[in-house]
Parts: sequence; structure tokens; C-alpha cells
Amino acid sequence: MISFIWIEDLNGVIGLKNQLPWKLPADQRYFKKTTMGHPIISGSKTYRSYNHPLPGRLNIVLSTSNDRFPEKVVVMKNFSELKKFIDNSPDEEYFVIGGSEVFKQFLPYVDKLYRTIIYGKFNGDTYMPEINYDKFKLISSVDGVIDEKNHFPYKFEVYVNSECD
Ligand SMILES: NC(=O)c1ccc[n+]([C@@H]2O[C@H](COP(=O)([O-])OP(=O)(O)OC[C@H]3O[C@@H](n4cnc5c(N)ncnc54)[C@H](OP(=O)(O)O)[C@@H]3O)[C@@H](O)[C@H]2O)c1
Repeated sequence: MISFIWIEDLNGVIGLKNQLPWKLPADQRYFKKTTMGHPIISGSKTYRSYNHPLPGRLNIVLSTSNDRFPEKVVVMKNFSELKKFIDNSPDEEYFVIGGSEVFKQFLPYVDKLYRTIIYGKFNGDTYMPEINYDKFKLISSVDGVIDEKNHFPYKFEVYVNSECD
């Protein structure tokens, strides 16, 4: 099973200069809690944005380069190699964590979406690829709590692919 998890603003912005354009610690906690114990898949640019394996999860990175990654990181050289790897364990929930280039490739295969919307318009250079939400059913929507560390309004949504019903 393949899931996406990401946060986007009102214009679909997800990144700026290989970082997130905002600080929202509550979403980072949600990301950690949701993905913990599951394999996570990223592109090399997203991996380099934090540049260490995220603990408690198998870190899979797509990269064609010969750059060095820590031993714990599983590097996949192309999409079909990775897809075969995923298809070998259909009961596992694989979380695609970005960025845009990697989300795009997985779009035809995604079963579940964990989308956080941050209600703001930020400068960005990377956008979430367009998703046809007609194919998905919203199963959960929870408003985030605004406090001294989380200044922007935000919402956690979960969708399932209705074609998988
Ligand atoms: N808001 C969010 O939730 C969120 C989540 C994740 C990322 N982001 C942001 O998104 C931005 C990065 O996204 P991005 O689209 O520019 O880059 P990306 O998807 O993270 O990484 C792209 C790189 O991954 C490798 N790659 C991709 N497809 C591959 C394939 N099929 N086979 C082998 N290697 C492949 C290539 O690296 P090589 O050059 O090494 O071959 C490629 O240059 C950053 O700003 C980041 O902060 C935001």
C-alpha cells in the first residue's frame, strides 16, 4: 500500500530553496507519529533537506547519483526497482514523503493521502502535483490547534482512493 504525506499551502506550495517555507511544529509531530515504524520514500533533494536518516523508519531514497548516503539508507536508482521492492510487501504501508518529483511518479499508484493544509500563501519554488480528488474519499478532517508555536491555521485531512474499495 502506498500513502502520500505532505503539507501544502493554499496555492499548493510545498517547498522553497529545498526547505519548508513555514514553521509548523504540530505538523512535524503529526508526520512523525503517522510515519513511525513504516518505510518512508523520498527523493534525494528532500533527503538532503534534513540530511540524516529519520529514526524508527526504513529510509528509502531515490537517487541516480553516486553520492554517499549513510549505511542505514536504502538507495534506489530508479522507479521500477523501487516499485518492485514495494510490491514485494503489499501489507506494508509505504509513505511517500516527497518532494514534488517523487509524488508525481507515484500518483498513479497512491492508495491513501495524508494532506495538511496550511491556510496561508507563501513564496515557493516547489508545488504539489495536481491530484484528482474525484478519485478519493475524505475520511477524516481535523482542524489544527493554533498556539504560541503554531501561528497559522491548518487542517489535517485523510483520503482513501475510492477506486480501491
Ligand atoms: N511540504 C511538504 O510536505 C514537502 C515534503 C517533501 C519535500 N518538500 C519540499 O520539496 C522540495 C524538494 O522537492 P523536489 O521535487 O525538488 O525534489 P525531490 O523529489 O525531493 O528529489 C528529486 C531528486 O530525487 C531523485 N529522483 C527522483 N526520481 C528518481 C527516479 N525515478 N530515479 C532515481 N532518482 C530519482 C533525483 O536525484 P539525483 O539527482 O540524486 O539523481 C532527483 O533530482 C524541497 O523544497 C522540500 O523541502 C516539501
